Amino acid sequence: MTIPKIAIFTDDAGWHGKQLQLSFKKLGYDSVFISLTECRFNLENQTLPLFIPEFENQLPIAVFVRGVPGGSLEEVILYLDFLHALKHLGIPVYNNANVIERSVDKAMTSFLLHNAKLKTPPTWVLRDRNTALDLVKNELLKGNFVISKPLFGSQGEGIRRIEKMTDLPWLTSSRGVYYLQRFVPCAGDGFSDYRVFVINDKVVATMRRRGKSWLNNVAKGASCEYIEPSAEMIDLAIQATKLLNMDYAGVDILEDNEGKLNVIEINSVPAWKGLESVCDIVISELLAEDLVKRLIRK
Ligand SMILES: Nc1ncnc2c1ncn2[C@@H]1O[C@H](COP(=O)(O)OP(=O)(O)O)[C@@H](O)[C@H]1O
Ligand SMILES: [Mg+2]
Repeated sequence: MTIPKIAIFTDDAGWHGKQLQLSFKKLGYDSVFISLTECRFNLENQTLPLFIPEFENQLPIAVFVRGVPGGSLEEVILYLDFLHALKHLGIPVYNNANVIERSVDKAMTSFLLHNAKLKTPPTWVLRDRNTALDLVKNELLKGNFVISKPLFGSQGEGIRRIEKMTDLPWLTSSRGVYYLQRFVPCAGDGFSDYRVFVINDKVVATMRRRGKSWLNNVAKGASCEYIEPSAEMIDLAIQATKLLNMDYAGVDILEDNEGKLNVIEINSVPAWKGLESVCDIVISELLAEDLVKRLIRK
């Protein structure tokens, strides 16, 4: 009988992976880093249906998803299939494949937020270039800027702002899809938004991110500052994570120049290094404890 282990799915363990591994160890669980690219379905008799390296004889006791690799649509669907299958086999998947599918896809997140009447900027997602140009022109005529984002982007990559009619030729689709969103000018001086970290429907830490320009991603050089969130911000972040059924999440919230809070996006595989650098809590320990105590069957 092999000792049960946790699989941490990632292609690059890095600081986050190592923090998680230490935190699981503190709770008495060994964990190993596995790439989803190395897994396979083995659908024959007498073997486990899923081959996961290092778990040849016994599937993981739980899995933590720290990264889903990019690739062709078929490749990404196969990685998500593995996560769906694990859940199907009764193994806790932290955040599960349904959650990841909905939150990585900015169109679906925007739809769900809008449908639940959680404040989020006006957004259009479509294929046709001429219609996209008309929508942007219309917004510019109303005095608004428009942001265009890749449907599956992260860390501020590939985001553009269309500010004037002469920018229109630069409007490009991302792999054939236009995700267009009204730009919301933020409250206060300079540029900032908030990252609210939620675990099991509780806000554990919040920071203000101050961007060098309107893009407030830490990966784009934004500085981090710990803040105490307002009751309204807590409420909005928790409603957003509940909407997507998330075990944990990083919610991006922007306060507009009228003081209203807007949900910009909900991350199901958020980083926490920047946030941890401005607070006293060890986020990997909170994540590991939540997964172990709430989801692993004793
Ligand atoms: N509609 C918007 N209005 C104003 N700023 C925005 C808007 N959408 C995004 N931003 C800025 O761009 C950043 C990145 O956008 P986001 O949708 O979170 O994409 P990513 O997945 O790349 O982080 C946000 O944190 C915010 O600073
Ligand atoms: Mg973001």
